[in-house]
Amino acid sequence: MCGIVAYIGHRQAYPVIIKGLKRLEYRGYDSAGVALLNHGLKLYKKKGKVAALEEITVGKDLDGHIGIGHTRWATHGEPSDRNAHPHQSSNGKLAMIHNGIIENYAALKSELIKKGYVFHSDTDTEVLLNFIEDIQKNNGGTLEEALRIALKRVVGAYVVVLIDKDNPDTLIAARKGSPLVIGIGKNEHFLASDASPIIEYTKEVVYVNDYQIAIIKSDELILKNLGNERQTPFIQKLDLELAAIEKGGYDHFMLKEIFEQPDTIRDCLRGRLDVQQCTITMAGIQNNIEQIKNANRILIVACGTSWHAGLIAEYIIEELCRIPVEVEYASEFRYRNPIIHKGDMIIAISQSGETADTLVAIEKAKEQGAVILGIVNVVGSSISRISHAGAYTHAGPEIGVASTKAFTAQLTVLAMVALKIAKERETISHDRYLHLLEELNDLPEKVSHILARAEHIKNVALKYKDVINALYLGRGYNFPVALEGALKLKEISYIHAEGYPAAEMKHGPIALVDESLPVIFVATKDAYHEKIVSNIQEIKARKGKVIAVITEGDETITGMADDILPVPEADEVIAPVISVIPLQLFSYYIGIAKGYDVDKPRNLAKSVTVE
Ligand code: F6R
Repeated sequence: MCGIVAYIGHRQAYPVIIKGLKRLEYRGYDSAGVALLNHGLKLYKKKGKVAALEEITVGKDLDGHIGIGHTRWATHGEPSDRNAHPHQSSNGKLAMIHNGIIENYAALKSELIKKGYVFHSDTDTEVLLNFIEDIQKNNGGTLEEALRIALKRVVGAYVVVLIDKDNPDTLIAARKGSPLVIGIGKNEHFLASDASPIIEYTKEVVYVNDYQIAIIKSDELILKNLGNERQTPFIQKLDLELAAIEKGGYDHFMLKEIFEQPDTIRDCLRGRLDVQQCTITMAGIQNNIEQIKNANRILIVACGTSWHAGLIAEYIIEELCRIPVEVEYASEFRYRNPIIHKGDMIIAISQSGETADTLVAIEKAKEQGAVILGIVNVVGSSISRISHAGAYTHAGPEIGVASTKAFTAQLTVLAMVALKIAKERETISHDRYLHLLEELNDLPEKVSHILARAEHIKNVALKYKDVINALYLGRGYNFPVALEGALKLKEISYIHAEGYPAAEMKHGPIALVDESLPVIFVATKDAYHEKIVSNIQEIKARKGKVIAVITEGDETITGMADDILPVPEADEVIAPVISVIPLQLFSYYIGIAKGYDVDKPRNLAKSVTVE
């Protein structure tokens, strides 16, 4: 949520910042801005995407070797030129970018207004900036000292980066609750919300921790805590290639990421699954296996698509491991004073590893003694760092705002984790264990098989592109897939869609059914097949249009449905990885047909670092 980039060094800062902002646009894209220092402070900002900012800077003075840039996802104040970052302090000396929310901004603002400050935007950021200026004015100390004092009074989450006209060789940054990575080059430093703007310049990075302040010159990086004590930067090597964050010939990142799934699932299984040896190797789980296998209860916390992966994991873990599982929205869990017993295990699922609600939820659970297992995609992210144990999903950077490949990788990892626990607890027979390992092994090929039939899915999608509502139904393992299908359609095509357990339909939603309502059934062959066939009949009897994701060769449903989206046969434990693929493509093609920017749907942001 909001992307920040900053540069200090021997290069021109502007091109580095603009390129970086484009890479971070998935985080927010309602306005963008840049501030450069060079014999004074120059500030350019514009409502709209980074391209709009570039347009207004044509022919302008863009010289400068130090600068900060921002792409915004609005929290305080509508998207507009004046609310775009960077903001400038009242005395005109400081410029600042901010990602996060200052919760006590209203109180700080009224204090400042009483002192005569005038505000030019509706943002919490301008309040914090003038608060810092005011402290510096009154205390007469350095900007670093003023920032430290200000942050002790701030309630909320932030990454801030400041430049100061009076100190044109220094960037100052601080973090709490939002991500900040610093790339270390030769006599230059790069700051960003994630590593994507940095990798083409350097692979050496430092992940700044909460409550740390960074004082950065071209050739020096100093980290301090809020108590002004120096801390040693922990330099890590990035394991990321530039090609992974480019479109590689596809029209959209979303399409690229959907088509990458055979590879991402393979990457996720690689080095872990060994069908010949009949083993699953996951060091992060193995090292903590005693605690994990003896958990009395598992609580899964996540948001959005990751929460849907959690719902599927509930079915898998309860069936295979016989451990009770509860799945929680992280945003609800964190505020309702949950009861956590010693011996409870929390699984946090997150693509970004930075989702504010999930992060705070596990921090609270950790304080109460729970063991935290993180299933995370972004290596080095906050959730991965505060978890006791975990497994990365290895899906590579997911840039399309709607999650696709991260979801299938989460399901693959969760299935492996469940199988590993089940084996340890001896709650699974050898034959079933081996069968599921083989099923996992076959996944990449089955997903490729579906993708090879994308044209058929496109044709079905085009038939329904003008509908206003859609209902998605599934049972058992496929119920959360119905939720995920509905979420994808909403996000990408702005069509209102709801997901329900198919049998719940009779308790209300069936009232919506008429000849204009498409009902998408996720009805692959599993233990519930006969039941869902009855549900399809109930819809047909009311003249609803039925689109069904079915197992190839399912004549029964083929004879009933208006359109079918066939997928290869799979064990029901693994089936969601397969049955979600046509639903991803269905949403993609409708979004494109309606002319929407599917990679950056309106109002959304990829990494939700505000609550
Ligand atoms: C939907 C989507 C979101 C995320 C949610 C959690 O397509 O991408 O619903 O799943 O914001 O994000 P992570 O997984 O990064 O914690």
